[in-house]
Order: sequence, then C-alpha cells, then structure tokens
Amino acid sequence: MKKRIGILTSGGDCPGLNCVIRAAVSHATLTYNWEVVGIPYATQGLLERQTVPLNMHGWDLRGIDPLLNMGGTILGSINKGDTLASASEILASYEALGLDALIAVGGDGSLKIIHELATLGNWNLVGIPKTIDHDVALTERSIGFDTAVNTIVDAINRLTFTAASHDRVMIVEVMGRTAGHLALHAGIAGGADVILIPELAYSIKGLFDHLTQLRDRWRRKFAIIVVAEGASSCLEDIENAASCTVAKCGRGQYIADQIASCSNNQIDTRVSVLGHIQRGGIPSALDRLTATVYGKTAVDLIAQEKYDQMLAWQNGQVIPIPINQVLDQSPSLVNTHSYLIETAQALGIYVGKVTGDR
Ligand code: F6P
Repeated sequence: MKKRIGILTSGGDCPGLNCVIRAAVSHATLTYNWEVVGIPYATQGLLERQTVPLNMHGWDLRGIDPLLNMGGTILGSINKGDTLASASEILASYEALGLDALIAVGGDGSLKIIHELATLGNWNLVGIPKTIDHDVALTERSIGFDTAVNTIVDAINRLTFTAASHDRVMIVEVMGRTAGHLALHAGIAGGADVILIPELAYSIKGLFDHLTQLRDRWRRKFAIIVVAEGASSCLEDIENAASCTVAKCGRGQYIADQIASCSNNQIDTRVSVLGHIQRGGIPSALDRLTATVYGKTAVDLIAQEKYDQMLAWQNGQVIPIPINQVLDQSPSLVNTHSYLIETAQALGIYVGKVTGDR
C-alpha cells in the first residue's frame, strides 16, 4: 500500500536536520515509492493542518542537492512550551492530513509532547533524537552535537591566540543549561584550562588558585575557561556574590567579575558568549552521516510498521527503542566519574569539585 508520511522538526534547531529530511524523502521515494510531506513549525503546522510537499526531484538547482550542507531546518521549528491545550484539534489533524505515519525529529522535550499526542491520537510515530546539548537518554549520538562541538573548538582556537597576545583570561560561555556535554567535549578538544559544567559545583577560590598555579608554576600568562551557561557554583560563592548576579549578567560575566574581585583587578578577563552561533552553521560530516542513517532507518521502521520508537545509536548500531523508555530516563547528564572527567583532570584541567577529591 502506498503510504503518505509526514515529517516535522521540533524544538531548538541544529545543523543536520535537513540531512534527515533529505534521507527520509529519498529513501521513501526511491525504495518504497511513498509520498512524504513536511509539517511546517511542528505542532503549530499540525494544529493549522498545513503541509509542504517534499519531493526529491523538486529542488530545481541544476542537480545540486542543497540539503546536505544547509544548517537550520527548511520546515521551520518551534521551541516554546507545550501545545497540549489544543490537543483535541491536533489529534484530529493526523487523520485530516491523511497521514499513515509521522517522523518527528526533536530533543527530549519535543519528543515527549509529540509522543503524548501520538499516544492519545493513535498516530504511527517514529522519533529521531536531535539536540546540541546531547542530553537525550539511551543514545550515543544526537544530531547537531558534533557540529556544535566543532564550532566551540574553532572559537577556542581563535580566542587562544588573542588571549596569549594580551596575557588575558578568556571566558567562553557555551550552551548547556542542565547538561555539560558541550562544554566538556569542546573544552578538552580545544585545550581549555578550566571547564565548568552544571553537574559539578566549582568554587571561585579553586578556580582562582588554579589560575595562580598556571601562572606561577607553568609560566602561563593567559588561560581559557569554558563555562556552560548552567554551571553551578558552590554555596559559599553564591553567598559572597558581588553585584553581578548570574541571572542578571550570565555565568561567563559572573565568573569574570569574581576573578576580578579575587585578584584585585590584576587579572584581565574578557567574556565571549557564543550563544546561537553554536546552533548554526554547516553540519559536520559526522552529523550528516548520523542524520542520514537516522532518516533512512526511520523510513524502514515505518515499512515494518514498528511504531512509537525512537532511533538510537548504541555500540555502533542504530536500533529502535520504545520512546517511553527514553523519556523515563531523560535527560542524560555528564557522568562525573567518567573517563572524560578523569582525562580532563589528568591533563590538569580544573573541572570543579569531583566527589571523592580531597
Ligand atoms: O537546544 C537547547 C539549547 O541550545 C540550550 O542549550 C539553550 O539554552 C537553548 O537551546 C536556547 O534556545 P532558544 O533560545 O531557542 O529558546
């Protein structure tokens, strides 16, 4: 039976989403001769019962395929709250749009909303994990993370030279409100001196002592601090907070102010908040590959009529996992006793206070 498949992208955008769309459309068209339609702006498009045709031969660009290296999502996305208030209308949209199955590409928040709708409405759903935060449980790969890590590493490289030229401490604030994967991966790969993540409390004194040691023992006159936007400080720091508060200034500026006050303004700091630069850009080769495999496999799951599953990357294989199981576990945070934390510490990077440290 010829199927009509819907695909949507939900939550914060990231590089690689268009690669999923491309792979799903190509495979569904070439292998199964199905029709694929895009649902613009995720649940909003469902609510408004809108679709856009997705035809692999429809891009009139002299044979050039633009989707592989385009950041963002051609379908648009929304990243606000939940729309379950309008659930009854959305539930009917699936049938009204004549869908046989729906592929939803999202992070844990979006997948939760769409999974709830799919359960209520009896939709045939396949989920694909994407998030630059890398916090969807039970999968080793989420689309967008690798590109964002590369973007941060590139920023650290650039900042290192200017930091060294001016003997400055550069503070790079990166995304990650609850999960520190981005800061940890990029910090190690970029050669940071300090990495601060939400999962490990740091103290300004520990941080300041580390900078002092870098200067006195290793004759390093500059330093790079990578800090996740949700990095947490020890209680004693919060109690002694200066006029700048995290809520007002952001974590990067807060740390800069604390360093200035500990050093009597002797340490020159500058803060770079990378913000949404981390969400943009051309997808890395790894993200393209992951997205392509996920897009293709989602279509195969639909062919097998295996629904309510999220695709996950585990031990080099792509496997389906019941979405419920994934949502029961989310979010996946940095394991503070993992080989990455151990590696950072072994290289003399300050990462805050790991339980069991003296
Ligand atoms: O996708 C997750 C994330 O990148 C967070 O790390 C960040 O805080 C948030 O999105 C910002 O999203 P927006 O500005 O789109 O609401």
